[in-house]
Amino acid sequence: MNKVSVGPNVPRMVMPVVVMGANVKGRPNYCTVAWATMIDDEPPVIGLVLGKGRKTMEGVLENETFSVNVPDCQLAPEVDHCGLVSGRKEDKSEVFSPFYGSLGTAPMARECPVNIECRLKEVVELEATDLVMGDIMEVYVNGDCMEGNRPDILRLDPLLYAMPGGPYFALGDKVADAFKVGKGYKKK
Ligand SMILES: Cc1cc2nc3c(=O)[nH]c(=O)nc-3n(C[C@H](O)[C@H](O)[C@H](O)COP(=O)(O)O)c2cc1C
Repeated sequence: MNKVSVGPNVPRMVMPVVVMGANVKGRPNYCTVAWATMIDDEPPVIGLVLGKGRKTMEGVLENETFSVNVPDCQLAPEVDHCGLVSGRKEDKSEVFSPFYGSLGTAPMARECPVNIECRLKEVVELEATDLVMGDIMEVYVNGDCMEGNRPDILRLDPLLYAMPGGPYFALGDKVADAFKVGKGYKKK
């Protein structure tokens, strides 16, 4: 297969999109974030990359807490709205119904099937972005998305984003079992 150089751009990739929540002066604000990843698992640390000037960042620094909410596909309009409009221009506090966990100041979006409550660990200031790292204090999952004691990925129905520029996708078919299929590897 021939390869085509497309330049040093943001590569075309699919990733789940999340909604970050933080209280800014006592009001919830939500920011759509595609650049989010686990950074460690024991203890669990999550990282999100924020462009400079996000209103949500004000709340993160104010309370040193935030939430990461994993939306389902039905929430695409709400998620997109939180990514199109800054809380500096429009109040987004009522886009989701917030609930709070033990940290008390990290607004979690009840409508999202997964809510991750975080305490700010560290902010790494980069040139045009900030890497916000949070210790995961608790994870909440909709009861009807559980399969036994584990969240079922099909029931979570995560909203996927084709970077850069979209569109959004839903999950496709299962391909294989991770940490298993490679055990039978043979070079073709
Ligand atoms: C699909 C999508 C993904 C986005 N991903 C990010 C991201 O990873 N990091 C970021 O800083 N902004 C991202 N944005 C842009 C912010 O969500 C947007 O600037 C938002 O209005 C900021 O809200 P705030 O100023 O109220 O915090 C994304 C927007 C969309 C629609």
